[in-house]
Amino acid sequence: KKSLKARAAAKGLIYGAAAVKDYLVSNTNLKTSFVRECNMLVPDYQLKWDSIRPHPKKFDFTKSDWLAQFAQRHGMFFRGHTLVWHQALPVWFKEVANRKNAESLLLEHITTVTKHYGGKIHSWDVVNEAIEIDDGRTDGLRKTPWLEFLGADYIELAFRTAAACDPKAMLVYNDYGLEYDSYQDGAKRTAVLKLLERLKSRGTPIHALGIQSHLMGHIPGFNAKKLRSFLADVASLGLKILITELDVVDQELTSDPIARDRIIAGLYEDYLNIVLDERAVIAVLTWGLSDKYTWVSSFYPRSDKSPVRPLPLDSNMKYKLAWNAIARAF
Ligand code: XIL
Repeated sequence: KKSLKARAAAKGLIYGAAAVKDYLVSNTNLKTSFVRECNMLVPDYQLKWDSIRPHPKKFDFTKSDWLAQFAQRHGMFFRGHTLVWHQALPVWFKEVANRKNAESLLLEHITTVTKHYGGKIHSWDVVNEAIEIDDGRTDGLRKTPWLEFLGADYIELAFRTAAACDPKAMLVYNDYGLEYDSYQDGAKRTAVLKLLERLKSRGTPIHALGIQSHLMGHIPGFNAKKLRSFLADVASLGLKILITELDVVDQELTSDPIARDRIIAGLYEDYLNIVLDERAVIAVLTWGLSDKYTWVSSFYPRSDKSPVRPLPLDSNMKYKLAWNAIARAF
């Protein structure tokens, strides 16, 4: 079979997936499949603050370096996730960070990490999940420690710092809840667009929007027209688009695994057929490759306790209908 990366490349696209060092090391079949299918690797968590910064003054790149070298050795692009997020902050952060030192903690972090990987990163998720409509602000910004300590300008500051340290990397704003027009009545899409507009109008070095794309198996489909026009609005700002964390949450789907796989594959195909119509979309990454290793099993477990099936390969690295669906959509 022709691999997903080859099919993607034939369309000028990149296909890749999130990975964890320990799984690639311990599971040879996963490693073989990953190398066969993927042209890009993004660490699932091993570049997050709590993974690389055990102490305010100490950085540990052991695991992320291993992943970067794995990607390089196998001719894959390497993506960075993520420089600024309200989650995965180290335990020391709550005790140490305050209004006075937050800016230097943030600048030190972005500078150290982007310089460490300078020139080797395809794209950075500079800021992750900064919009939360439910937090009730008119600008839609999420009430994170960064917002609290630094004010709304922390986003621009993060992008400018990353650009200065690694001028070659594509700089991305990444978020979820943009896939369905029904999500928060479209308010999240609107707020994200406004944020992107504001950043662009101020000359902030931002190059792309990352749409996480954790699809919900129980939601039947997509409003293609509205999704296309959202993507076109993003593209018209001069931004590229990456599908950064694609998978299908099957928590509320039937316990029959065959029927379930059919629904999941259908959603993969419907979604990709719509988004790949937009020429600004340059890459598709699934959040993992095999059902054996997926955040869905701990974040969205099934009530019947049966294994979740969100990804293109099953737990034995066998092709699923979802793989076929992606292959066809490319
Ligand atoms: C998840 C990882 O997959 C887990 O291993 C980790 O424990 C928690 O985070 N949106 C994101 C990702 O931007 O960083 C999240 O990844 C999934 C949701």
